[in-house]
Amino acid sequence: MRVTLSVIKADVGGWVGHSSCHPSVIDRARECLDGGRESRLLIDYHVTSCGDDLALIMTHDQGVESDRIHKLAWDTFQEGTAIARKLKLHGAGQDLVADTFPGNIQEMGPGVAEMEIVERQSETVLVFMANKAYSGAWNLPLYKMFADPFNTSGLVIAHNMHCGFAFEIYDIKGGRKITFNAPEEIYDMLVYLGATNRYSVKAIYHRDTDEIAAISSAQKLSMVAGRYIGLNDPVLITRAQGTFPAVGELLEPFAMPQLVEGWMRGSHNGPMMPCAQAQANPTRFDGPTRVTAYGFQLANGLLIGPRDMFDDPAFDQARHQANMIAEYMRSHGPFEPHRLTLDEMAYTTLPEVLKRLEERFTDL
Ligand code: F6R
Ligand code: MG
Repeated sequence: MRVTLSVIKADVGGWVGHSSCHPSVIDRARECLDGGRESRLLIDYHVTSCGDDLALIMTHDQGVESDRIHKLAWDTFQEGTAIARKLKLHGAGQDLVADTFPGNIQEMGPGVAEMEIVERQSETVLVFMANKAYSGAWNLPLYKMFADPFNTSGLVIAHNMHCGFAFEIYDIKGGRKITFNAPEEIYDMLVYLGATNRYSVKAIYHRDTDEIAAISSAQKLSMVAGRYIGLNDPVLITRAQGTFPAVGELLEPFAMPQLVEGWMRGSHNGPMMPCAQAQANPTRFDGPTRVTAYGFQLANGLLIGPRDMFDDPAFDQARHQANMIAEYMRSHGPFEPHRLTLDEMAYTTLPEVLKRLEERFTDL
């Protein structure tokens, strides 16, 4: 059976500040998607949140980039925004830069990750969601999952994965893309993957079968209505088991709380903390960055789950380490490398301040 898994997320208003999503907004989203399931547009759905981002996880038979599915998501975000306005939540509708459905939802703010697959006998999928991060945050974990034998023993041990994986990488600021084959091109690939503020893994494919293994919400950076669209709070879908890495191999990279951009005002580097959904409400200095993972088994498109994968004491050490790193990074205050470099700050509110000070400079 062919089934499409769509994960579409947007920040439609924060409760409190930018820390979390209000339960009434989540309830309203459930009602909207319930309507979609009753009308048989959706096979199944799950609504959740990571920080102040509302995430719609949906299965259907409409394929990727379906107008009907994107319209349903758009309308759901509008309904959530109406609730957010009524409750005067912070930044109501902030990720929706158009008033009417624009046709292509991802060019108007929300993040989109979708894959159409032939459901296997046992189709295990993981949905990763990050808050206070940019799309390059998936580069390091995806490299470990699909190219690093020290992380994924299946790359060495499993005959059906030994061929390696192909990485499709977006140059989000240059509007280009390139594909590299792992393992033989990993040195070339890392030239770009390491530059997380410019290059983002979009998709990964199994090299024997060409089957899609992972898809992220990475997209070309664009300026709409005076705001940069497509950087914030990415989502990621990965398939697991069989010809793909095991669930534990996909989760393993997050045992190391990597430094990512996105903390406080999208302007600071800090550790990415893996946590249960209930703990994904960043408060300290609006952070530190959170990542959650929801696991599902698909059964003819039904989402059997979620299992809250980081709700496991085995990740306590990573959370502890993330807190220690957070403490250390915070002690730098407004200094780099806690604060991003000026180049990277071009996508924040700093240019407004710089503009004002520029005229006071005199030539040396
Ligand atoms: C939002 C974020 C926050 C905000 C900060 C200022 O995802 O990262 O750190 O940037 O709380 O928010 P505003 O400008 O909305 O008052
Ligand atoms: Mg947000």
